[in-house]
Amino acid sequence: MASQKYALIGSPVSRSLSPLIYNTAFAFTNLQGSYEALEVSGSTLEDVISRLRMGYAGFNVTAPVKERTVDFLDEASDEVNAIGAVNTVRITDSRLHGFNTDWIGFSHAIGNAELDGKSVIILGAGGSAKAVVYALLRQHRPRRIQIMNRTRARAEQLIRGFQKLAPCTALENVSQRDVKEEIALVVQTTSASTPEYSPVEVNFFKNIGIAFDLVYEDTLFLRQARSAGCRTVGGLRMLVGQAAEAFRIYTGMPCPEEAVLSVLVKAKAYDGTYIQ
Ligand SMILES: NC(=O)c1ccc[n+]([C@@H]2O[C@H](COP(=O)([O-])OP(=O)(O)OC[C@H]3O[C@@H](n4cnc5c(N)ncnc54)[C@H](OP(=O)(O)O)[C@@H]3O)[C@@H](O)[C@H]2O)c1
Repeated sequence: MASQKYALIGSPVSRSLSPLIYNTAFAFTNLQGSYEALEVSGSTLEDVISRLRMGYAGFNVTAPVKERTVDFLDEASDEVNAIGAVNTVRITDSRLHGFNTDWIGFSHAIGNAELDGKSVIILGAGGSAKAVVYALLRQHRPRRIQIMNRTRARAEQLIRGFQKLAPCTALENVSQRDVKEEIALVVQTTSASTPEYSPVEVNFFKNIGIAFDLVYEDTLFLRQARSAGCRTVGGLRMLVGQAAEAFRIYTGMPCPEEAVLSVLVKAKAYDGTYIQ
């Protein structure tokens, strides 16, 4: 069978681990495939998707174009329709079939954390925040989810989109100064979090159990949380979990997840000490 081409689109993607993940999975499963990262801005999205449609077998989508790419799909899964964002596109006969595997990756990474009847805070309201809210509503059923986002209107739009799905969970738009109660989990989904910058002050972590950062580096946010005594979870398990499901959608084969994880850690793409 001829080698199949796959790609990641988004910006910035130069430091993405996705090429290493998929090229490792192809090598371990003896499948003929190649994977590259393509830098895409809002204005080049349409042209790049037209090019991918003609020559590729599939592509992944990352920030900031997960929501806009939904408009180019020929078919969308129920999860893409519910979440309003796509991260995995399989191409068959030049037709784009969209899936969302971020919510599955998040659910794997959060494991059996006890969230039933508890309060959760989400920082951010972009494509990945929507996948996290969907996963929480579908699998964990917290009593309350509070959305904290720089642009208030975007948080309100997210809440409107999920209200019908969540009859037993209160969805609220809050600012940092509103948070007073015990919070079982806070999920950092903004693209602003880096090893040097955190979107919150250290006193934010006073009443928090688990702090999860979707970014897969040792961010200042995770270090602040650790210093306040929170359990911390980095984004690597979620990254590998969502990629494993995308690999299965692309190839029909299970992804060698543990092998991929150990290659990532050995390549020092990620230190690994805060994988939990
Ligand atoms: N580990 C994983 O598997 C995984 C999976 C998915 C995503 N991610 C990571 O999650 C991050 C977000 O992805 P996304 O697709 O949700 O992106 P997105 O749709 O572009 O949304 C970005 C979010 O970040 C906020 N933001 C951006 N710059 C900010 C700043 N300077 N201060 C405060 N807030 C800011 C935005 O707020 P506004 O609404 O105000 O613009 C928005 O809520 C990326 O770093 C991505 O790599 C990781």
